Amino acid sequence: MRLPRARLFVLGRRSLPSDDFQGTAHTLRSLHQIAENPGTMLDSLTPEQRAKQLHVIADTAASCTSCGLSERRTNVVFGAGNPDADLMVIGEGPGKDEDEQGLPFVGRSGQLLTSLLEEAGWYRRDIYISNVVKCRPPGNRDPQQEEIDACKGYLADQIKLIDPAVVMTLGNFSSRLLLKRATGITKLRGHVYPWWGRHVVPTFHPAAALRGGAKVADLIREDIALARQVVVDARPGEQLGLFE
Ligand code: URA
Repeated sequence: MRLPRARLFVLGRRSLPSDDFQGTAHTLRSLHQIAENPGTMLDSLTPEQRAKQLHVIADTAASCTSCGLSERRTNVVFGAGNPDADLMVIGEGPGKDEDEQGLPFVGRSGQLLTSLLEEAGWYRRDIYISNVVKCRPPGNRDPQQEEIDACKGYLADQIKLIDPAVVMTLGNFSSRLLLKRATGITKLRGHVYPWWGRHVVPTFHPAAALRGGAKVADLIREDIALARQVVVDARPGEQLGLFE
């Protein structure tokens, strides 16, 4: 069971960098309409309202043509999971399976990710998973900067609405986008980074574990355990069953 949001004062009010990581104009408008006071808008949304807003933004994204990736996609892969999640996982961009099914991380690396998370007690229904870019880069090439820039408003909206205690970034693209560092994932991982009232825990992309074998998978396991500890620390009473 999650604590009601009003009791999460220990985490403080969580925001997002306002300079270049803003939500879409559409979301900002509709969020302002929901809350009387825009300054407290996220705190005042119920889980149902947040889920509804995610659907509204996903509908907008479904017809997005802001970058060239839209020309060759089968589906926009907006994101999936629990809109009330403590953990949000951010990958790079959809691959072939994801493009076909419209769901994130359903291919081989997704299956590995799912099983590593389950080992730590996190099931897909409990967490929310998305990507830096929502449309498949052709041939699974790296997303380009203009594609990332065109798409990042959707990610900002997702983080604002879901408001997770921990964001786990998979690989270089999502880690660098959030942490604004040029440092590679090998050096970034293994640490917890305070981030706008939340925490970011970067780790390797599961595709790196498919290529690099058991050692890389073990490092991802370590990072997932770190993320788990941050969530436990943020909700000590819950772990003791005090709010059941
Ligand atoms: N790789 C990603 O980064 N995201 C997916 O959704 C699938 C594979």
